[in-house]
Amino acid sequence: MALYATITDAITQYTGLSPAAFFTISAMMLFVYKFVSGMFVAADDHVAVKREQQVTLREPVQIGSITEEELRPFDGSDPNKPLLMAIKGKIYDVSRSRMFYGPGGPYALFAGRDASRALALMSFEPSDLTGDIDGLSASELEVLEDWEAKFEEKYVKVGQLVSERTSTAEDETKVD
Ligand code: HEM
Repeated sequence: MALYATITDAITQYTGLSPAAFFTISAMMLFVYKFVSGMFVAADDHVAVKREQQVTLREPVQIGSITEEELRPFDGSDPNKPLLMAIKGKIYDVSRSRMFYGPGGPYALFAGRDASRALALMSFEPSDLTGDIDGLSASELEVLEDWEAKFEEKYVKVGQLVSERTSTAEDETKVD
């Protein structure tokens, strides 16, 4: 008890605070410290996160000629498959932009599809999720060309869409 009295006396003498105020402030400071430090990733964890990203992000693989139907499963729902999207029949590997096109992403609706019409019209309408660009105006086609140029520059082209599957397994390995 004498020790307790000595400590509380010392706290009051050195800090000018009552022991209750001193312990309350100390607890709050500890909480803030824990909260703020919890917002940062430890250096070792950061390395682990980077390594994990490298493992999951594989080099784009050429897929050859496939139909729109065959493109569908590449919508990011299977993490073992690349994330693909087509513009004007050309298929691009957009796996590196999983945050855009992966499940839950703002542009997930375009994944596994030819989104030409939707992009030309800047539309999210399900009925515009098609490679059919019939009847588009010159300015809409220009918008589509800008998207195509962006994709050409940013992503690797891994194949093309065909209306009917005519190629053989050997043709599929052909690099375009
Ligand atoms: C309120 C309207 C919109 C806003 C604020 C918006 C914003 C953005 C932003 C900030 C990005 C990221 C750009 C980057 O970091 O490279 C982006 C990318 C993109 N936006 Fe939008 N957007 C809008 C509407 C649309 C519409 C209507 C479409 C098409 C129908 C669209 C299609 C895309 C696509 C495809 C990408 C990804 C391009 C890529 O793969 O790099 N956006 N948007």
